[in-house]
Amino acid sequence: MFEQLQKKWNVGGLQMALIISTFAIGGSLTGYAGKKIMNLLGVQQDWLWTVAYILLIIIIWPLAVLLISIPLGQYSFFISYIRKIGKRMGLVSSRESVDGSPENHTSLLTPDSRLTTNIAIFASGTGSNAQKIIDYFRNHSFIKVAIIVSNNKEAGVLQIAAKENIPALIIEKEKFFSTDVYIKELKEKKIGLIVLAGFLWKVPAILIKEFPGYIINIHPALLPKFGGRGMYGQAVHEAVITGKEKESGISIHYVDELYDHGKIIFQAKCPVLENDTAVSLAKRIHALEHEHYSAVIENLIKKQQSNKP
Ligand code: GRF
Repeated sequence: MFEQLQKKWNVGGLQMALIISTFAIGGSLTGYAGKKIMNLLGVQQDWLWTVAYILLIIIIWPLAVLLISIPLGQYSFFISYIRKIGKRMGLVSSRESVDGSPENHTSLLTPDSRLTTNIAIFASGTGSNAQKIIDYFRNHSFIKVAIIVSNNKEAGVLQIAAKENIPALIIEKEKFFSTDVYIKELKEKKIGLIVLAGFLWKVPAILIKEFPGYIINIHPALLPKFGGRGMYGQAVHEAVITGKEKESGISIHYVDELYDHGKIIFQAKCPVLENDTAVSLAKRIHALEHEHYSAVIENLIKKQQSNKP
């Protein structure tokens, strides 16, 4: 029986044990709290006692399991489980969104009723990060790379899109900065997260406004140092070496209206060696990017999905 549930919920053995423990402890807590409250209420008639007790249990149970799920690390499982029950009972709206943002552009329901977040990757160059992200999410159950966007029709990333059968969109400067044509297109595709991976144009305010908190970037240095206008490609690594830094690294951050400025989500460091050139350092940094970017994206989406209203 547990094996079937494990498959249905798509969880491993340890998580299954934690879920069962949460049910068990949450259930006992519900019974205990229900009886205590009933004693305080001092209801006499049997039928009234039963009705009141059932009502109390219905109210207390979700609170109790959610409370227990926190220390057992199962909050996101239980919040979506309870939401599903609420939906079946008609208590929760069936429209869902990621992280409470405007509902119409962020998500869609998969057949198993779990949210899928569609990613748009924006890239101007080779696209080695894009490739890693595509590989990572290829068979993912709730995250999909839905479109590759590029400002450069010669970009290597477009060949990756073609090879991977992912729709590509080549954008024009005028339309990108002065109209909402592409925003409409992204919304039609129900994009939940825009991931910049070597995208060299500044992101216009209108796009940031339409995707607030849903655009992230990776920068090949430890921000806030070595960021800003002109700080891309080899120029970053050359500046790090000229600055005689002992370490460099990567920064994954939200995108705001300034270059390389938004709140930092994640950083990882690596040493700068004495004989490093911009090329050798870039290689080490790229390896770090490939190692971390996809997992950071996944964690971010998981958090967004579990915070959704
Ligand atoms: C990466 O180094 C990234 O940090 C920067 O642009 C580069 C893109 O590399 N924003 P690639 O095209 O993914 O290989």
